[in-house]
Amino acid sequence: MRKILRFLKSIWILNFIRRISIGSRYFNKKYLDIIKWGFTSREDTNFTYHITKDNLAYLTHTIAVVTKMSYSQIAEYIDEVQTDEKLRDTILAALENSSEKRFADKEVRFGRRLGWYAFVRAIKPRIVIETGVDKGLGSAILCAALLKNREEGKEGRYYGTDINPKAGYLLEGKYRELGEILYGDSIESLSQLTEKIDLFINDSDHSADYEYQEYLTIKHLLTEDSIILGDNSHCTSKLADFSLETGRNFIFFKETPLNHWYPGAGIGISYKEK
Ligand SMILES: C[S@@+](CC[C@H](N)C(=O)[O-])C[C@H]1O[C@@H](n2cnc3c(N)ncnc32)[C@H](O)[C@@H]1O
Repeated sequence: MRKILRFLKSIWILNFIRRISIGSRYFNKKYLDIIKWGFTSREDTNFTYHITKDNLAYLTHTIAVVTKMSYSQIAEYIDEVQTDEKLRDTILAALENSSEKRFADKEVRFGRRLGWYAFVRAIKPRIVIETGVDKGLGSAILCAALLKNREEGKEGRYYGTDINPKAGYLLEGKYRELGEILYGDSIESLSQLTEKIDLFINDSDHSADYEYQEYLTIKHLLTEDSIILGDNSHCTSKLADFSLETGRNFIFFKETPLNHWYPGAGIGISYKEK
């Protein structure tokens, strides 16, 4: 039998088909995910999904290493937001009241933004900036973290930037009290800022040059404690480059979506060692 198999493998075309079949097995499930998603989702951009259990554990470990906090403390923060029914209800109610609901799903899926939440809870920033707000899922989860920090006596403020005047409709209720959205070109809005930035999240125009310009624009507002999260680091090395140029560490967390065709984005993390 072995001899027959070896003989068949030695015929180039038969082995070619066998090898292509081995390779495609890694992607076939994705086609099923695409078809399922085509029927069940309304999203056509900025896709949302849950991440796998293992991936969430890796995210928790990554944040624990960067913040020098324990795994269990970071896991507690993530669990806190995953079980926050008020936040979920506020987001779903805001969605229901929006004309954009035709293009969104009635399920809250934070994906890597759970990591953004944990960072805010861990470092208790006074100023959080998120460039690129879109519907406002990031805005809502970041302001929810600031709200919890406030309950612990640590005040913080959120500023989002977006060129789209309709952006940010999910930031509602008590969460809106903690933040505001600066409408217009992000670089122009960032140029007006004077306060030091504790947590900066880049997620606006995803071209490499624009991303880099954002970092240069806020460079003078960074401190030794500031953390930058790059939502474009799965596409460009700009945050890694900026980190090298400014004596910062850089690591990248790769997201693994659960039962979704999208290959996942990630979180580039730029920080200074203490
Ligand atoms: C990927 S979405 C942001 C997603 C959001 N951070 C979240 O958590 O869901 C990118 C957003 O950047 C905005 N944008 C694109 N170019 C921009 C620019 N030059 N200035 C400000 N916002 C911009 C788009 O309008 C879009 O809403």
